[in-house]
This record gives sequence, C-alpha cells and structure tokens, in this order.
Amino acid sequence: MALRPYVVGNWKMNGTRAMLAEARAIDRSAQRLMKVEVALAPPFTLIHAVHKEVEEIGVGAQDCHAQGDGAFTGDISAAMAADAGATFTILGHSERRQGHGETDADVLAKAGAALDAGLQLIICCGETESVRDSGNAVQAVTDQLRASLPQTLESASEKLTVAYEPIWAIGTGRTPTVGDVESMHRAIRALLIDRYGETEGGAIRILYGGSVKPENARELLWAAEVGGALVGGASLTAESFMGIVMAAV
Ligand code: G3P
Repeated sequence: MALRPYVVGNWKMNGTRAMLAEARAIDRSAQRLMKVEVALAPPFTLIHAVHKEVEEIGVGAQDCHAQGDGAFTGDISAAMAADAGATFTILGHSERRQGHGETDADVLAKAGAALDAGLQLIICCGETESVRDSGNAVQAVTDQLRASLPQTLESASEKLTVAYEPIWAIGTGRTPTVGDVESMHRAIRALLIDRYGETEGGAIRILYGGSVKPENARELLWAAEVGGALVGGASLTAESFMGIVMAAV
C-alpha cells in the first residue's frame, strides 16, 4: 500500500504560544488536502497546546529519553510526550547527535522507549560535508542508519519513517543535486527492504530534509524514493510550510 507523502515541520527550539496561530492556519489549510499527510513537531512546551488547537494535522515530539521514567532532571519521556498529545517523535536529529553527543546506540534505545509508549518514529540520518566530499556519504549514512534502527519491527511501514538530512544542507540554503538525493534514498530503501522485507521495507517513507523551501520543494519531493520532507525554518510560517505541502500534491 503506497502511503501518502508525509510533510513534517520541525520547529526546533522555536515557538511560544504566539505560534499557535501558525499551527491553526496550517491545520485549516491541510483540512482540504487528502493526498498529503501533514504534521508538526513543536517544542515540548507547545505539544499539548498545538494538539488542542488542531484537528487534521499530526503533532509530535523532537526527541525523548531512552528510559520510561526516573531521576532524569529536565528530561522528557516518550510517555510524557504521548500524554501531551504527541503521536510520533523525531529521533537522532543531527543537532542532537552532534549537539548532545547522541550515538547510534542512544538513538536505538530511544526508539525502543518511543515504541513502548506507542509513538511512531521518524529516525534521522545524514552525513557531514567532509564525508560527502570524500565520496563516502552512502556508506556513512547506511552504517549510521543500520545501527540506529530496530532489528525487527512489526508493521514497520506504519511505525517507522526515515529522514535523510545531509548535515551540510541544514539551515544553509544548500541542497544536494536531485541525483544525489535519489542515490542516497535508493541506498536507504535497499537497507530497509533487507531489514524489514520487501512489503514493509518497501513501503517505509523516506523523507528528505535540509533547506527545503517552496521554491525547491517540487523537484525534491518528486525525486525517486522521496516520500516527503522534514522541514525546519520554512515550517515556521503557514505560508511557506503550506507552499511546500502543496508541492507534494
Ligand atoms: O529537521 C529538519 C531540519 O533539520 C531542516 O532544517 O531549516 O534546513 O529546513 P532546514
């Protein structure tokens, strides 16, 4: 079963209650779109408020702790995110892998905690510019993903989405060529089929992320094996985010 294109806004560390107006505007626009699945990942502090404001779009977290509960001051568990209204969580974003020293093993442990709490997963991967320039991007990204994904996962295509985000394209205005995006996504698809089988592994959506804008969204979203987008800066306003969503229709 071909899943709908999936366009997710990652608000990162942006957003106070004033941003609820943008969430409402995105939700209203998305209500007329049956062909695209739309979601937002606001900061933890806004998950419940956004969940209460929207009807059509999904709401998720940007991370979760690897433990179910306990003495972890300042951390948020997957169950807490779910209790606030999250239905998914992003994991392994490069800003956490690099900014918080998260390893592939950390991401895998968090994935287990998120699944235990009933959350769907968006697991991120991506290479640095030096790795890309060395010609080793596919090997590096597939190695990273292989170590970050659960070994087994029932109904994998319903629970797991992968996001390929070349680190050098995040927030820079630069993107890979369509050919490079397609080569990477094809390698990720082969990995997913090898791990989860033809049916489930073949249906898992592989999002592209990294400087997606309304101007470049169509060529990126319609590239081979691209199942949607994970959008940062351009998701902060309804106008630019919906410009990307409409490119997926
Ligand atoms: O998670 C999506 C993000 O990393 C991409 O950011 O601002 O380049 O769209 P941006």
